[in-house]
Amino acid sequence: MAPKYKLPAAAYFEESWLRQEKLKLFGASWLYAGQAAELGPTGSYKTITAGLDELVVVRNQEGELKAFHNVCRHRGAQLVQGTGQCSTLVCPYHKWTYGLEGNLRGIPKDPQFTNIDKDLLGLHRASVETWMGLVFVNSNEYPNETLLEWLGDIAQELAPFGAGNLELLKRDTISFNANWKLYIENHIDWLHLWFVHPETLAALDHDQGQRTQLGPHWVSYEPAKAEHAEAYKVSSPLPDIPHIQDNPARYSENGAHFIFPNLPIFTGTSFFAIAELIPLTPEKTEMRVTLLGLRGGDADAFFEIFNDITKGEDAGIIENIQQNVRSKHFSVGPLAHTYERAISDFHDNYLRLMDG
Ligand code: FES
Ligand SMILES: [Fe+2]
Repeated sequence: MAPKYKLPAAAYFEESWLRQEKLKLFGASWLYAGQAAELGPTGSYKTITAGLDELVVVRNQEGELKAFHNVCRHRGAQLVQGTGQCSTLVCPYHKWTYGLEGNLRGIPKDPQFTNIDKDLLGLHRASVETWMGLVFVNSNEYPNETLLEWLGDIAQELAPFGAGNLELLKRDTISFNANWKLYIENHIDWLHLWFVHPETLAALDHDQGQRTQLGPHWVSYEPAKAEHAEAYKVSSPLPDIPHIQDNPARYSENGAHFIFPNLPIFTGTSFFAIAELIPLTPEKTEMRVTLLGLRGGDADAFFEIFNDITKGEDAGIIENIQQNVRSKHFSVGPLAHTYERAISDFHDNYLRLMDG
């Protein structure tokens, strides 16, 4: 079947679509929440937004990660912000205090509260699991699938990158004036490589690329052109990662992958870069990039190259489309059979959750 663009223009600018996405898509998905290494000793915590829900992930006494809704059971205040370290979670409003298992431990002025059962007033639970040193959360206490079931075949496909054994080299955040889905659609669009990146990706042999849909997720690899292969190898400002080179050739090629619903990943011989897409408004998106690799190179130089491509070229073209989505003549015509097929698959998986 020919691939088809399945979303209406309103999905790219209406507030009501974004609200439904937060409720039905982000509220029912496993979402990237950082690295396990960020949550070191007992009591380390990190807050994360999952659709309409605000969560906190915390490391308990046993060294396990736990996730709770960051909502006080008294009058709903947020307990903590950002990242930090605590022995108990204390609400800033009236100082109700919760243990690292989410249990309600203390209520100041407690003669004021008679006939309450503290055991029933623990924090509402969410879910947290790790894969390859990466933390994912789900805002439901009992998700339909475990993280590994959700990831399916992509978990094994990306395992050789061994992200859990790489170091955090640098984080960077860029934002752009376009709907978050336009970035995803561009990320998995093979057709644009020739035309949006004629110089920055000139060394790559797009014709030889391999693309594989793995459930709702997607991986792709492309080699350098034969005449550029040597130059391409030494062009990275980061040191090669030996354990990647020990694997089949595709792992050393230029990799662009996608974990549904909002996580592009970029890979190469010397890096594993995770790009989390956060919709700020229907027409503004933040991309938070985490660069993992080995020390000894120049992470700033990596980001200079990376941002020239993603911010300069990719964000530029989707901001261009965003300018048109409200036009009465905006519509999407035929899609390329294989080069744009992943967009059609993305829409199917998106609609499955949005309609479900
Ligand atoms: S809202 Fe948290 S203690 Fe009152
Ligand atoms: Fe691109």
